[in-house]
Formats: sequence, structure tokens, C-alpha cells
Amino acid sequence: METIRLISGYAMPTLGLGTWAMRGKECKAVVKTAIKLGYTHIDTAWMYDNQRDIGEAIQEIGVARSDLFITSKIWQTHLKYNDVLSQCDECLQQLQTDYVDLLLIHWPNEAVPMEETLDAFNKIHDAGKAKSIGVSNFSIDQVNRAREISQAPICMNQVEYNVRHNQEALLAHCTRHQVMITAHRPLAKGQVIHEPILSAIAEEHGKTAAQVALRWLRQKGIIAIPKSSSESHLRENLDMFDWNLTPEEMEQINNISG
Ligand SMILES: NC(=O)c1ccc[n+]([C@@H]2O[C@H](COP(=O)([O-])OP(=O)(O)OC[C@H]3O[C@@H](n4cnc5c(N)ncnc54)[C@H](OP(=O)(O)O)[C@@H]3O)[C@@H](O)[C@H]2O)c1
Repeated sequence: METIRLISGYAMPTLGLGTWAMRGKECKAVVKTAIKLGYTHIDTAWMYDNQRDIGEAIQEIGVARSDLFITSKIWQTHLKYNDVLSQCDECLQQLQTDYVDLLLIHWPNEAVPMEETLDAFNKIHDAGKAKSIGVSNFSIDQVNRAREISQAPICMNQVEYNVRHNQEALLAHCTRHQVMITAHRPLAKGQVIHEPILSAIAEEHGKTAAQVALRWLRQKGIIAIPKSSSESHLRENLDMFDWNLTPEEMEQINNISG
């Protein structure tokens, strides 16, 4: 699996498995199938209520922890210092691991001083419970504040990013400061297959509209975490590494969201 190097020095696979809204037996089965197919990066969160299922799937399949990259997130109701620490411990316990590769503030919460939240994130980072830290759904101003406050580097901003939601200004700003972007909803919740431009480009390459949507993100330097509960979609979404969109095709897709 292709990786990029985060500013923290750790390698992160550029494609991951999104797990929102998957729980129980379905979640366990999908995680196992994905790992068998070659996925090494799993995106979850305390709020998804599926970390136990993911932890069990990883144990049962017997993959080495060091071969996986796991992202988790602290929910916005738990951004006070002690709440962050206890929710992180809960995540680790549910996932049956000593550390997550990346821990994110799931959503900003202006009611809690960012200093307090990031103090706790730095404590977790320094204790080795999170190899890298970052944020999610943060604006340019919020990313700037987080970078100023945190001792450990803010490596990531996970935001909605897809052909219908092309956040060029945020991407340019984060890239300039070595804050990588992970695209959540990279397939616009499956809606990308209805974009005629993607279908036309897909036909030229013998690919699908979903693959073109993911390839477009990759060529913009963005990490993608598509969710799928079907084995055929899991396979399809992996096929985005050894082919390229032309600059003209990239531009056509850039213009979809106006
Ligand atoms: N940080 C945040 O606040 C935040 C917010 C939202 C999401 N996320 C993360 O981002 C992940 C992805 O976002 P998402 O799950 O909302 O949406 P998504 O990945 O854009 O879309 C998922 C939908 O696309 C379908 N799909 C997957 N592969 C496909 C393919 N090759 N062709 C056609 N349809 C396909 C899936 O159906 P099947 O299951 O039938 O394949 C599912 O209905 C989440 O699972 C979660 O981990 C984070």
C-alpha cells in the first residue's frame, strides 16, 4: 500500500477503510475482508460505537499491530482535559491496542478552550498512546490556532472532500503548513457515481466513476477513506494507484463543484 510521510515522521497509507455506520457482525466481517484484500489503514472514532468490533476483527484475523494504521477521534462533548484522557483510554481498550497511529479532535467545540484539549492531546502523544495527532472539520483559522498551541505537530485535518465539495483554499493552506488532508465522504456517500463527467472519464480509462473520484483525490495529494460494506466495492476502491488522470481531466473534475 502506498504511503505518505506525515510531519511527525510516521508513514500513513494513502487509502483507508471508512467505518462510519458499520457496527457488530457486519463491521467485523468488513474489516476482516478489507485486511485480507490489502487494506492496512482503518478510520474509526469513539462516536462510531464500533471500536470493539474493529478490535475483535483485528485480533481474530491475527494481523500484526505494526502492519496497521488506525485513526480514532475524540468526540466534541469530551474536549475537556480529563475527558480527552479518559475517552482516549476507552478507545485504546476497545480497540485492544496500546496506541493509535493518529488521534484527531473529531469536531471543534468553541465552548472548550483549544489549549485545554491540545494539552491533553500532547500528554497522550508524549505517553506514546498516539503516534501522531491532528484535527477534523477545522477551518483555516482553527487549524492556525491549533498549530500555534500544540507542541507536537498537527499532522492532519480530516474534512469532507469530494468532487462536489472541493475545498481548494483549505487544501492549499494546510499543504503549505504540512498539515495533510484526509477526505471523509470521498465518494459523496456514493453519489459520485451519478456525475456524468466522472462516468465519461472513467470510460476512457476502463475504470468506474468511484475510482476516478478517488484517483482525483490522490493526485491532489489527499488521503481517502471510502466506506464500503461490499467486497466488490472494497476491491474496486483499491484500484487507484497505478494509473493517472491527465491534467485536463483533473481540471474538468475540479470544475464540477463550480
Ligand atoms: N471526521 C468526520 O467528521 C467524518 C464524517 C463523515 C465520515 N467520516 C469518515 O469517512 C468515511 C467515509 O465517509 P462516508 O462513509 O460518509 O461516505 P463515502 O465513503 O463517501 O461513501 C460511502 C457510500 O459509498 C458507497 N460506495 C463505496 N464504494 C463504492 C463504489 N466503488 N461504487 C459505488 N458506491 C460505493 C457505499 O456503499 P456500499 O457500502 O454498498 O459499498 C456507501 O453507501 C466514514 O466511513 C468515516 O470513517 C468522518
